[in-house]
Amino acid sequence: MSFKRYQGKKVFITGGSAGIGKGIALELAKAGASVIVSARGKSNLEQTVKELNAVGSPTAIFDYSVLDVSDKNAADKAAKKAIQTLGGLDILICSSGFAKTGEASDMKDEVYRNLMDVNYFGHVNITLAFQDHFRKQKSGEIAFLASTLAFFSIYGYGAYSASKFAIVGFAQAFRQEMMLHNVKVKLFFPPTTDTPGLEKENTDKPLLSKEIEMGSALNVVHKIESVAEAILKWLPNKKFFGYTGWDSWLQYFLFRHFPEFSIRLTDSELKSAQARLDKKQKVL
Ligand SMILES: NC(=O)c1ccc[n+]([C@@H]2O[C@H](COP(=O)([O-])OP(=O)(O)OC[C@H]3O[C@@H](n4cnc5c(N)ncnc54)[C@H](OP(=O)(O)O)[C@@H]3O)[C@@H](O)[C@H]2O)c1
Repeated sequence: MSFKRYQGKKVFITGGSAGIGKGIALELAKAGASVIVSARGKSNLEQTVKELNAVGSPTAIFDYSVLDVSDKNAADKAAKKAIQTLGGLDILICSSGFAKTGEASDMKDEVYRNLMDVNYFGHVNITLAFQDHFRKQKSGEIAFLASTLAFFSIYGYGAYSASKFAIVGFAQAFRQEMMLHNVKVKLFFPPTTDTPGLEKENTDKPLLSKEIEMGSALNVVHKIESVAEAILKWLPNKKFFGYTGWDSWLQYFLFRHFPEFSIRLTDSELKSAQARLDKKQKVL
């Protein structure tokens, strides 16, 4: 797919060293954009910059920024440096984040807080770090990646979903504030995507959560490339909310228009999953 509109654009991506963020970075580089990828781990960032140089324009700038997005001061410094390196900024993509599942009572307090610090405050910190630049410039685009679990939740995802629901509230108000400065703020709900993050999430996911997902017709695992493409296609359009695939669309439609019905639907998926698990355990 050709994304000509991104040619010459200056972009900063949190979570740009892996998964969806890296997928977006690669597509942008192919389209002729300059990109700074940001994350905590230096070696993945170096590897990503190598890959960006291999596919990108020889006149574009590719660099990385080692940053823990939960650290507000570090985010401020990273933003200043990125604007210097690129000579400005047109697009900020907030893709950093992680999932940790488990029954509410089994999760340690620090896990609840860490999820909020990274998934919610991480997006807030980096956005506020760049906001003066965008306001002065009177143009720009900011994309928040949340999750389909930012508009509904199920067994085992309470702490994670809370950190993603929080983004939705912030993004809606922030959108209006920035609209007055001609800056676009948008919110994407990524579906289940085959990334290193998903692989890690699945290592200690409760059996019942896994069973629900296996039995759900709406849990399709998407490829990084198709999610990255969907995000870059949606970014210039007028719609504030973005999602990809019929599965996300149907989930969004049901929860928005038929919330009580949808809650009962997820309850019936939970009961069926529990029954299947009980049966499997009897066989063993
Ligand atoms: N994959 C899915 O199924 C799925 C579904 C719904 C929503 N999402 C959301 O989509 C986004 C991307 O997910 P993904 O699956 O592509 O994740 P991923 O493969 O785990 O990649 C996450 C990226 O974020 C960085 N990161 C993690 N913690 C960070 C921190 N504290 N500070 C700065 N960077 C940090 C990681 O690098 P370092 O670890 O080196 O910092 C990495 O570059 C996340 O917000 C995720 O919650 C994913």
